[in-house]
Amino acid sequence: MIDVDYISIYLHWPFCESKCPYCDFNSHVRKKIVQEDWLQGYLKNIRVWFSVFNNPKVKTIYFGGGTPSLMEPNIVSDLLEDLYKNYSISKDIEISLEANPSSVEIKKFRDYASAGINRISIGVQSFVDKDLKLLGRRHNANEALSAIDTGSSIFENLSIDLIYGRQFQNLLDWEKELQFAISLRSQHLSLYQLTVENNTAFGRLFDKGKLKGLPNDELSRKLFITTNDICYSHGYKPYEISNFSLDNHECKHNVNYWKCGNFLGIGPGAHGRYQFNQERFSYKNIKNPESWLNKSFSGDSAINVKTRMSDLDHFEEFVIMGLRLSEGLSLSKMQKNFGRTFDDNTLQQLIRLGFIEIVGTRLKVLQKGKILLNYITKELLT
Ligand SMILES: C[S@@+](CC[C@H](N)C(=O)[O-])C[C@H]1O[C@@H](n2cnc3c(N)ncnc32)[C@H](O)[C@@H]1O
Ligand code: SF4
Repeated sequence: MIDVDYISIYLHWPFCESKCPYCDFNSHVRKKIVQEDWLQGYLKNIRVWFSVFNNPKVKTIYFGGGTPSLMEPNIVSDLLEDLYKNYSISKDIEISLEANPSSVEIKKFRDYASAGINRISIGVQSFVDKDLKLLGRRHNANEALSAIDTGSSIFENLSIDLIYGRQFQNLLDWEKELQFAISLRSQHLSLYQLTVENNTAFGRLFDKGKLKGLPNDELSRKLFITTNDICYSHGYKPYEISNFSLDNHECKHNVNYWKCGNFLGIGPGAHGRYQFNQERFSYKNIKNPESWLNKSFSGDSAINVKTRMSDLDHFEEFVIMGLRLSEGLSLSKMQKNFGRTFDDNTLQQLIRLGFIEIVGTRLKVLQKGKILLNYITKELLT
């Protein structure tokens, strides 16, 4: 039996109505999905996992995707009911669901809340219709507003996802759009700079030189700084590189990832991590939805690879994740858990450049450094 006190559960719904040109998430378009089969697939995997853990308390559940708001509310409800019936659930559990703002999905919000969802994350991406078209989205700005309106009348904890650094977007346009988003006073904002990923339609256009109007490095830098400044001045704490919240509304599920907590990943392509007897394990589910489901029905867990992480891998993950958080990386924990310290010359150099600061026993990345996080991480780890 694996003894862990707390655990988070990530459930991956791998389907979408269409594939957005920028997206490299494990999401697929299918004509027919038998949702009851998927419910059984999730439950079977959850049972396999909980048979090896010694009754940990579930502290967060996250339905991510893909588009989990395509799930029928009764499927979400049955799944949560099973979890409540069979396992220990934390009293103040956070249960999030990612939703796309289409009219069909908005109608499900109340039933999701009745099923137990208490945090909704709406994939708005932009409030500008022509930009939503460029992003290949199926909704328009009015539908996004309607989703936020309905969502905030039902959920006390609502998050909005926006993508900036979009094609043909200038600084002033983004400032106005962000101010507008802020005026809606959702509890949480996830603000991502557009990343052009390989193996996406945008990636292929980019390679051919046909993805026009992307920001240059200087504009990207300004967009990032402005985003942080505007959010901060309106009470949205930048608690992670791309995540901002009003007081006490950080996403507990994601904070658990960044703090290298234990989490189960259930569903195609989902990752999981847990620590047992000083050793950290990582695993990955089979990526293809149908293969994952078939394997689940065979009675096995649908795991593709499971490894004991080397101390170095665990240490590097601890640093990479910890540097993303505004509260910074705990140097004392690093010393205690890994017996490691950073090179003093490197630290002094990064401090002199104004990229980091050390406050007590924590290393924090400053605003100027956040834009260069990859560089800073690399410097500290070499
Ligand atoms: C799992 S995804 C999608 C959730 C939901 N299906 C949707 O599209 O709204 C979570 C978020 O990642 C962000 N995202 C996805 N691909 C991105 C990319 N290439 N660049 C920047 N942000 C991206 C989007 O803001 C998206 O809402
Ligand atoms: S961005 Fe969201 S809706 Fe679009 S393909 Fe990816 S997961 Fe699906």
